[in-house]
Amino acid sequence: MWNAVSSLLLSGAVLVGCTAETDSGSPTTFSRFTAEELVVLASLRPPESVPADPTNAVADDADAAHFGRWLYFDDRFSDSGTVSCATCHDPAQGFGDGRAISEGISTTNRHAPSILNTVYNRWMYWDGRCDSHWCQALGPLEDPREMGFTRLQVAHLLADDEGLSEAYSVVFAPLPDLSDPVRFPTAARPMADITDPLHIAWDSMTAEDQATINTIFTNVGKAIAAYERLILTGPAPADDYIIALLSEGEAAAEGLISSAAQRGLEVFVGEGNCHFCHAGANYTNNEFHNIGLGPRDWLRPEDTGRYDGITALLASDFNGSGSYSEAPEGAAVTLNFLSQTPEQLGQFKVPSLRNIASHPPYMHGGHFNSLTEVVTFYSALDEEPDWGHREDLMVPLELDADGVADVVAFLEALSGPGPAEVLLSAPDSPIP
Ligand code: HEC
Ligand code: HEC
Repeated sequence: MWNAVSSLLLSGAVLVGCTAETDSGSPTTFSRFTAEELVVLASLRPPESVPADPTNAVADDADAAHFGRWLYFDDRFSDSGTVSCATCHDPAQGFGDGRAISEGISTTNRHAPSILNTVYNRWMYWDGRCDSHWCQALGPLEDPREMGFTRLQVAHLLADDEGLSEAYSVVFAPLPDLSDPVRFPTAARPMADITDPLHIAWDSMTAEDQATINTIFTNVGKAIAAYERLILTGPAPADDYIIALLSEGEAAAEGLISSAAQRGLEVFVGEGNCHFCHAGANYTNNEFHNIGLGPRDWLRPEDTGRYDGITALLASDFNGSGSYSEAPEGAAVTLNFLSQTPEQLGQFKVPSLRNIASHPPYMHGGHFNSLTEVVTFYSALDEEPDWGHREDLMVPLELDADGVADVVAFLEALSGPGPAEVLLSAPDSPIP
């Protein structure tokens, strides 16, 4: 029924004025939404399936997801022994950390986004410097501010711990012998600073041994990715409302979300133009935009967003077109269409708005503590960005306090049930 109605709406064929035929055959009049807005509403229906990841052979493997769930919560994979992925992407905090900018071993330069529904992302990170979950997972492991580990330490920890090495062999293959400290130093990784002892140790290895380590390291990322792909949310009241509205009309939908939220949705798909960027099933167009956020005391002004992210993505050994990608011939991921342009200065990735109420604060630098502050910003647009300029399509909405509260009520109606309880903590053993 739902598909039939949405395809009717998309074709526009039955929209005369603002009247659509519903399944019962009786015409329904829409007073809140124009014909164009109804088409937008149809595009906001919940996602039906998760996209495949051809770059990761274990993306949908249950054993890999089990091992990945273990790794996600294991703080031994950090220099201090106290930081795991869950430190900054905490299931109890909507898979964020509740801080403006994240703290691991030391303070990072950005806000931790939630990992909820990230399986729908085309790009990872606020600047899109990775194009897969597994590429992304490798960054924090080696970032000195986050987990401060090195890929050699990751490999040795797996090899030296009985449970971990058995889990690894169940999902992938038995680990090679890494016991020769000359061939496989205790700690090493490639670094921009080639005088750093960690880089020198990495450089002392043969290309073949480096590739062996990179395979183990990327497999760790791929197992974590298999777990992250399960971290999804279910339909929210706003979905129920939109589905009922389109299939049965306004009267039937009334009551599924508050009147305030209904007015907020009118702004969202109307004068607010929010749906231009927060588009489609996951409320993001998966692209990068400059919304003109101003500086904050706790942020570094040199953060150019997508402008530098694109160079990092193209240079990464772990992008979808690199040698650790498992995309089969013919399905190879090509990034050739990407290049750095001045327009990317100050652009950041459009975040999903599903379950947004569960993980304040907001924006790439934790600029705002509440959704009210976010909507007040969109209403006034009274900040000037450090880099680039705000998108032209954005104009101050000049909402009064009630208008702001309406949009906030709609954003709150985007919260659906989170992942199953069993996914919210580590399994009893790493072995599937
Ligand atoms: C010290 C805190 C910290 C730790 C530990 C950490 N992250 Fe993050 N995570 C962040 C921050 C901050 C960002 C955004 C960084 C950026 O955009 O430059 C981020 C970004 C992400 C993203 C991108 C989401 C998106 O929508 O683009 C994913 C996925 C993610 N982290 C997963 C992980 C995994 C998996 C681990 C463990 C291997 C991990 N994180 C460890 C803080 C952390
Ligand atoms: C031109 C594209 C664009 C438009 C239009 C737009 N947004 Fe955004 N939105 C973004 C981007 C990009 C970010 C992240 C910005 C950053 O952190 O630098 C964002 C962030 C947000 C966030 C915070 C999400 C988080 O996880 O931190 C909320 C909430 C939000 N927008 C709601 C809205 C609402 C409501 C509207 C309409 C009034 C709107 N947006 C219009 C692009 C847009």
